[in-house]
Amino acid sequence: MNASLSSRHAFRGSVLHFLSDPGEGGAPHACEFFEDGLMLVENGLVVALGYYSELYPTLPAGTPLTDYNGKLIMPGFIDTHIHYPQTDVIASPGTQLLDWLERYTFPAERRFDDIGHATEVAEFFVDELLRNGTTTALVFGTVHRQSIDAFFTVAAQRNLRMVAGKVLMDRNCPEFLRDTPDSGFADSAALIERWHGQGRLGYAITPRFAITSSEAQLARAGELAQAYPNVHIHSHLAENTAEVAWVAELFPDSRSYLDVYDHYGLLRERAVYAHCVHLDEADRRRMADSGATAAFCPTSNLFLGSGLFDLAGSRDAGMRVGLATDVGGGTSFNMLQTLGESYKVAQLRGYTLSPLLAFYMITLGNAIALGLDSHIGNFAAGKEADFVVLDPASTPLIARRMESAATLAERLFILMMLGDDRAIAATYIRGKSEYHRNQQVISNA
Ligand code: GUN
Ligand code: ZN
Repeated sequence: MNASLSSRHAFRGSVLHFLSDPGEGGAPHACEFFEDGLMLVENGLVVALGYYSELYPTLPAGTPLTDYNGKLIMPGFIDTHIHYPQTDVIASPGTQLLDWLERYTFPAERRFDDIGHATEVAEFFVDELLRNGTTTALVFGTVHRQSIDAFFTVAAQRNLRMVAGKVLMDRNCPEFLRDTPDSGFADSAALIERWHGQGRLGYAITPRFAITSSEAQLARAGELAQAYPNVHIHSHLAENTAEVAWVAELFPDSRSYLDVYDHYGLLRERAVYAHCVHLDEADRRRMADSGATAAFCPTSNLFLGSGLFDLAGSRDAGMRVGLATDVGGGTSFNMLQTLGESYKVAQLRGYTLSPLLAFYMITLGNAIALGLDSHIGNFAAGKEADFVVLDPASTPLIARRMESAATLAERLFILMMLGDDRAIAATYIRGKSEYHRNQQVISNA
C-alpha cells in the first residue's frame, strides 16, 4: 500500500463540514466549525476532528502535521453532472441546446472512438477537477465504450471516487454516434461487470436524453436498471423548451417528459436528471416520491439560455437537488463560481440562497444526492479523507473584503461570490495531496 495512505497524518487549519441540511435559514447547528481545528487522517480515512488545542495533545508523539494556518479545510467538492468529453467544447458560443449539440458537441464527441484521445482528455479533465477542488463527479462519457475504459483507467490511477457511464443514443443524432438497443445494452453490461465497484469507481446507465433514444433503447436501459439495481442512472430532463416540445411529439402518450423515463423504469434513488428546469408540480412530486435527484446546473442554464431552475419549489416539493457544472454546456469547472451563479438564478426567482445551504449543497448535500454519503461528503469518523484547502485571501479584493466580514456565513458568501480556482490552495484524495497551488506549506514531520 502507498506509504502516505497507511500512515497517520494531522492537518491543522480552520475546519468546516456539515452534519445535516441547514435549510433556507442556514441553521448553524447543521455544521461544525473549528476556527483553529485539527483533522486526523489514517489509512486515507478521517479518524478524528476537533479543536487543535484539545486534539493535538492526544496525538502520539511524532504524528506528522501539515499546518494550513489561515486557510479553510472543507470536504472535497462534488459535481453531480459533468461531461468529460466536452472539455474542449466549453465556451462555444451563439446557440441554444439542440443546435449547440449538433454544431459543437457531437463533432467533439466523435473523436472519443480513439482511446488515445479519450485518455489525453480524461487526464486533463481530472487535473482540472482537482485544480478546482472537485474530488467526486457523476460523469458522462460518449457513446463509445472505450471513452469509459479511458476515463476509469485515469480515475483509478488517481484513486478518485468517480461515477461514469457510456452514453446510449440510437436516433436523432449523427450516424457516427449511434449505438443500437442491443449493442448499448451489451456494452453497458460489460462496462458494469468490468468497472462497477472496482476500488472507488461506480457505473451509471446513461441514456443521453429521450430525444436520442428509441423506445426500444429506453426499454433496454430499463432492463439494465433492473438487472443492476445498485448502479446509477444518469440523463437529461426538461432543460430547454424546444427540447420539451420535441419530446412531446416523440412520446405523445406520455403525460410529461419525466413520464417517459418513468414508463421505462428509469426513476429511482441514484437516478440523476440534469436540469429539470421545465417541470410541473406533478413531476416534482413524482421526482420526490421516486427518490431521484435533479442536478441544478446554473452556469449551463444561463449560458444556453435554458431557463431558471426553481430551487425553492424543488426543495419544497421534497426533491433531492444536487448542484452541478454541466461542462461543456456549463462555463466553469469551479463549484464556487457555480454557487455564485446559483445565487443569482435564485435571486431572479425571488429566493435567497443562504451561504451555509450553498456550501452544504456542494459537499454533504451532493453526496446525499448521489447516494454516496456513507463514503464522502463530510468529516465524520470513517469517511474517506477527500478534502479541499481554501484560501480566504486568494486575491487582493477577496482579502480586503474579508477584513470586514464578521461571521462565518459572511466569509462563505464572499468566497462563493468572488472565489474561483485561485481560492483552491490544495486538494487531497484519501489524505494524499493531489494538487497544490504552490509549495508554501509548512510541514513539520
Ligand atoms: N441534453 C442532451 N445532451 C446534452 C448535453 O450534452 N448537454 C446538455 N447541456 N444537455 C443535453
Ligand atoms: Zn449535461
